[in-house]
Amino acid sequence: MSSVDVCLTHQQLENYQHHDKNVVVIDVLRATSTINTILFSGAKSVKPVESLEECMKLKENGYIVMAERMGKKVEGFDYGNSPSKIEKNLFAGRDVGIATSNGTKAIVKTKGSKITLISSFLNLSKVIEYLNTNSRDTLLVCSGWKGSTNLEDTMCAGAIVAGLENYEHESDTVVIAKKLYEQSKDDILSSMKKSSHAKRLSGYDNIRDIEFCSEIDNQEILPYLDGDEIVLL
Ligand code: MLT
Repeated sequence: MSSVDVCLTHQQLENYQHHDKNVVVIDVLRATSTINTILFSGAKSVKPVESLEECMKLKENGYIVMAERMGKKVEGFDYGNSPSKIEKNLFAGRDVGIATSNGTKAIVKTKGSKITLISSFLNLSKVIEYLNTNSRDTLLVCSGWKGSTNLEDTMCAGAIVAGLENYEHESDTVVIAKKLYEQSKDDILSSMKKSSHAKRLSGYDNIRDIEFCSEIDNQEILPYLDGDEIVLL
């Protein structure tokens, strides 16, 4: 039987074996919700990068460039990391580069996996469907915030675990994530509003994003990492 495990922050990834596994990266607020939305809006590809410099360089090759630090748009970039501000007609057919505080770093770290899927509440059922159809040892990687565990990513990991069939649970983090989801599932938005990052974002003009990112299955696509670019499966 295949196993599933949950890594609560990308900084802890070095404690896990992810090579040749199904890996799912989660950053509900907001990187993986944003990446899903970019591709749902018709973009050709999304390149996740770690540094702002690397991201800005992509502009020379015609990329739309997006960057966030401390929840805010970085000066000089075309966009920040706000999914609710993505304009469908401007993104269609384009390549997009994105650098965020945690989410894009988490994605880049998972190279060497059998497949890296990009997950959020927006495409929850597509991720679960893939994992149930392609049963293999699986690691759910929550991005967290600067080394700390967060509510929204853990809750989303728990929602994935709750949907899995015929997987055995490997560790306490799986039980923690599933219990958190079960306690929150009737009102994901209220639970998300309690998170420290939701509070941080509410201080800026990103309050609409919290509602946007709490919607379940309203963008039914499955982005995955193909080399160093994210495209649709
Ligand atoms: C991150 O990568 O930490 C987040 O996506 C931050 C944000 O809300 O923009």
